[in-house]
Amino acid sequence: MGWLPVVLAAAMLTCAVGELIKVGGRAGWAENVNYTEWAAARHFYVGDWLYFVFDKRYYTVLEVKRSNYEQCNDSEFIKNISRGGRDVFNLTEARAYYFLTSGGYCYHGMKLAIHVQELVPPSPPPHPSPSTSAASSAGINHKYQIVFFSFLFVVIACYRL
Ligand SMILES: *[C@@H]1O[C@H](CO)[C@@H](O)[C@H](O)[C@H]1NC(C)=O
Ligand SMILES: *[C@@H]1O[C@H](CO)[C@@H](O)[C@H](O)[C@H]1NC(C)=O
Ligand SMILES: *[C@@H]1O[C@H](CO)[C@@H](O)[C@H](O)[C@H]1NC(C)=O
Ligand SMILES: *[C@@H]1O[C@H](CO)[C@@H](O)[C@H](O)[C@H]1NC(C)=O
Repeated sequence: MGWLPVVLAAAMLTCAVGELIKVGGRAGWAENVNYTEWAAARHFYVGDWLYFVFDKRYYTVLEVKRSNYEQCNDSEFIKNISRGGRDVFNLTEARAYYFLTSGGYCYHGMKLAIHVQELVPPSPPPHPSPSTSAASSAGINHKYQIVFFSFLFVVIACYRL
């Protein structure tokens, strides 16, 4: 089982790359989308990226405090994320993030609150007890199976299927 940790580490490296999440799905960042509903249907993890796609002639994306989010108040925002209308935002911390658009469109639903979680590495499956694996004649086959399924497990956990 010496190389099981190596296989697991390799699988988890593929996890290190966060997911790029397009805000609002097909609709993007636009009016009359219920972002509360949209956000409730998915998970956000540290390392993921939010991808805001919007019409830059009308809309912006500002990171704001919670109280500003609740009142659609765009003054003293934390960060202006808008550049060209195809803008990304790093989710670097496990905490709540709040966004809105300026210029009144916030009242038309363009506000987003998300809760970012730490991505907890999945625990590897339990080791077989030494007595059975040492005595087993099918030991080698068994080991391959464990490695294979561990790998599969980590990959599936990574991509959160
Ligand atoms: C958005 O959806 C949530 C959950 O279904 C609902 O509680 C809320 O009233 C909706 N917001 C708007 C502006 O329709
Ligand atoms: C908007 O937010 C700013 C900063 O958080 C605050 O000073 C101001 O009073 C708020 N405006 C309104 C109308 O609530
Ligand atoms: C945010 O930045 C964009 C692009 O630089 C700019 O057009 C927009 O006016 C800024 N918005 C605010 C509220 O500062
Ligand atoms: C996003 O995170 C990476 C790695 O933590 C960092 O190097 C990069 O500067 C960040 N980008 C922005 C736009 O904050």
